[in-house]
Amino acid sequence: MEHELVIVLDFGGQYNQLIARRVRECGVYCEVKPYTMPLAELKAADPIGIIFTGGPSSVYLEDAPHIPAEIFTWGVPILGICYGCQLMAHTLGGQVVPAQDDSAREYGKTKTYYDTSCKLFQGLPEAGISWMSHSDYMARVPEGFRLVAHSAACPNVAIADETRGFYGVQFHPEVNHTENGSKMLHNFLYEVCHASGDWTMGDFCRRTVASLREQISGGRVLLALSGGVDSSVLAALLAEAIGDRLTCVFVDHGLMRKNEGDEVEAAFQKWDVHFVRVNAEERFLSKLAGVEDPQEKRRIIGAEFGYVFRDEAERFGITDQDFLAQGTIYPDVIESGKGDADVIKSHHNRLLPPEVVARFKGVLEPLDLLFKDEVRQLGRELGLPEYLVMRQPFPGPGLAIRIIGAVTKAKADTLREADAIFREEVAKAGWDRKISQYFAVLTNTRSVGVMGDGRTYDYTLALRGVTTTDFMTADWARIPYEVLDAASTRIVNEVKGINRVVYDITSKPPATIEWE
Ligand code: XMP
Repeated sequence: MEHELVIVLDFGGQYNQLIARRVRECGVYCEVKPYTMPLAELKAADPIGIIFTGGPSSVYLEDAPHIPAEIFTWGVPILGICYGCQLMAHTLGGQVVPAQDDSAREYGKTKTYYDTSCKLFQGLPEAGISWMSHSDYMARVPEGFRLVAHSAACPNVAIADETRGFYGVQFHPEVNHTENGSKMLHNFLYEVCHASGDWTMGDFCRRTVASLREQISGGRVLLALSGGVDSSVLAALLAEAIGDRLTCVFVDHGLMRKNEGDEVEAAFQKWDVHFVRVNAEERFLSKLAGVEDPQEKRRIIGAEFGYVFRDEAERFGITDQDFLAQGTIYPDVIESGKGDADVIKSHHNRLLPPEVVARFKGVLEPLDLLFKDEVRQLGRELGLPEYLVMRQPFPGPGLAIRIIGAVTKAKADTLREADAIFREEVAKAGWDRKISQYFAVLTNTRSVGVMGDGRTYDYTLALRGVTTTDFMTADWARIPYEVLDAASTRIVNEVKGINRVVYDITSKPPATIEWE
């Protein structure tokens, strides 16, 4: 192993890769492995530290995921998070029980008090908000451990056995809602595991280019290009690895934002890459006709993308010895369902039909461990222009998942106009760089309005703006009222079919960023 390694053992929590992402952010290389990974392999990987993730189970249940106690005899520091903390307590002789009443069950932002003499909380304020999500609690902590954090409802929020280097926290330090969560992970890595911080995005870039060259060998690659950040960065990475053996196929499915198809084409024509645009509006809209279910829309779009790529591969003589590449990133993988985690929504690039996959020698997804902001860093590393690196994300299924209910061309046109006005007003006020993603959603709700002297019965448009770094959790953006007002006034006046505008003030969780 070229780098110091931390292993995150996955017990099925929703945000496990976030932990890995935070560790890498601290300059330490990290991989997520299933908790079933054989102990011998785990030991052979020689990690400087291990982190047990959260998970949906309860440790006292018979079928709950467990880990052999032997792992605690190696002398490797371990940090247990939520379920991981309870598992550590349970395995080492403590007692974990279901919380008897609601007060011991904790969910959401919780004021927490830390013992700052503990290495984990060293240098932190003595109190802060932590993000809790647990319904079990530690009735007895194992021998050798002491309590190092508490909340009003729970005396046992964090435990530590500093001699053996074992730490457990009931809350989630990896999510942004926990104040100083990253600092706690940094403390675990540097104060407990004695990391030196030898991992950078430059290394990732060099290693990935080298391994792509080896894997593709003399073959060609068809890249599924949406023009968004992820696939653009992947285009640059593949161009670096294989030069003109790369063909980038951009599918305009008729569900892009206003002018987007032309903008993507213009951006890529400036580049020295083989770029192909396929106009497929008719093809996608006819497949989507009458479909209302969000997952079904996603499935149809994902499959149709695949069929277009297969057709284009035929057209350009790309054979079954060549590869298909997608800019899949980690949130696409995790939210589409992985391991024991729930399916939240299937991202389009997880839905390629098997016959399309079989058409190629393999599907390359070299960004599938990265988060959006890491992809952006990689883009800069590869010398991509800032306007491409900083583009706000746009989902592959496009406006189809921002039109609630059945998709029609008329609705897509209405939404395109309204969305363009919102984006224009946000940019005019200089807020485009302050928020991570903002867009309009055409709801399926109609309501009564009055225009001039006449009654209207038209659709409600929702505006959404979020701030986030990783898109796994997000807060709703506090866009100034004046900007919302300007957008709302223009939209109801300029876009036929909309007579009411609302602003979405929910964070993720519990909502998601897109409405479908
Ligand atoms: P959610 O709605 O899951 O969105 O909170 C998180 C981020 O992912 C984007 N998104 C997608 N991107 N294909 C994509 O390429 C998809 O199917 C997809 N669904 C959601 C979304 O725009 C946000 O940035």
